[in-house]
Amino acid sequence: MDILLFVIPEDSAMTVRLEHLLAIDWPIIQAPMAGVSTPALAAAVSNAGALGSLGLGASSPGKAFEMIQATRLLTARPFNANFFCHARPAHDDAVAQHFIEAMRPAFARFDAEPPEVLREIYTGFNDDPELLEVVLETRPAVASFHFGVPSPGAVTAMKARGIMLAGCATTVQEARQIEAAGLDMVVVQGLEAGGHRGNFDATSDAGSGVRELLRHVLAVTDLPVVAAGGLMTGQDIRAMQEEGAAGAQLGTAFAACPESAASDAYRAALASKAAYHTGITRGISGRPARGIINQAHGELVGPEVTLPDYPLTYDLNKALNAAAARYGNTDYAAHWAGEGAPLSRAMQAATLVDALVREAGFL
Ligand SMILES: Cc1cc2nc3c(=O)[nH]c(=O)nc-3n(C[C@H](O)[C@H](O)[C@H](O)COP(=O)(O)O)c2cc1C
Repeated sequence: MDILLFVIPEDSAMTVRLEHLLAIDWPIIQAPMAGVSTPALAAAVSNAGALGSLGLGASSPGKAFEMIQATRLLTARPFNANFFCHARPAHDDAVAQHFIEAMRPAFARFDAEPPEVLREIYTGFNDDPELLEVVLETRPAVASFHFGVPSPGAVTAMKARGIMLAGCATTVQEARQIEAAGLDMVVVQGLEAGGHRGNFDATSDAGSGVRELLRHVLAVTDLPVVAAGGLMTGQDIRAMQEEGAAGAQLGTAFAACPESAASDAYRAALASKAAYHTGITRGISGRPARGIINQAHGELVGPEVTLPDYPLTYDLNKALNAAAARYGNTDYAAHWAGEGAPLSRAMQAATLVDALVREAGFL
């Protein structure tokens, strides 16, 4: 009797190709960036053969629906819709009032008053069933999640519609939780990354760089792993692939594209020497996030002041930024950017994808 031998390569989990999984041409994801990514950006990236993303974490269900439909009108290719799974904030009036009073002098510089109460400006995906309805109805090819994972019922419902699901991990433990929740891919976010850290628990941060985290997560999961954090060039993407990543997710690189919603001041900061100085602060939103250092990163309140939970702190700082902006001062804006910010290139998204592909040697 003939015996057939099937040899399964030992590194089969590591060689999953993002292109095959997502039906795209290149293993590159334009990161979702709430407030910065746009339908035009996501569609341009997807039309260029990578995966464009919409950052819908700060959007109402109606707005999220609109953005997905607007993207669909601009591309027939797969794209990703991203949501936040943060826990609801504790509404502690004493903490809020202490913080508001501590911030009053900063508002006074711009002849403004701080808000009397802090609002929960973003509702998490797990706390608003309408957001799930939007995903089920619009069926983006991919849905991704930051700050946690969707509920088991939501995962089952989205998977039943054929939607690929991705979760962001900043630790091995979070990667395990993403796998246990039944998601299809892990995006590992290194400390170099721009924007909010994806920590499930906003008060603890292992602080691993992307290479270290990628290696550790690959060792414990069979899921495809996408690397994110400080990746700006095709050479960076190639290096991550050589370490076993299924692909790379780039945010800051795409923030400078003309199709993004970045403000002029943000673009100017990305293009200036200020881009060499990024830092992580909880002071802007109540969660750790990396951006180009400006007044918003400064010590506006002392360590004796407890920051209200995310996104309550963000509500107040957005009001402060608006007050400063009325005086033409953009120093209180959140200019989220990763450590690779000085390498950002202000080119059309399709041209950037093309440059990344060539630098990576994919063509
Ligand atoms: C301006 C900006 C906004 C971001 N907003 C989101 C978001 O809404 N959802 C999300 O999952 N990640 C968000 N991120 C993080 C990215 O998903 C990704 O981890 C990060 O951009 C990778 O690092 P890089 O910026 O150095 O490429 C944001 C990043 C930036 C730069």
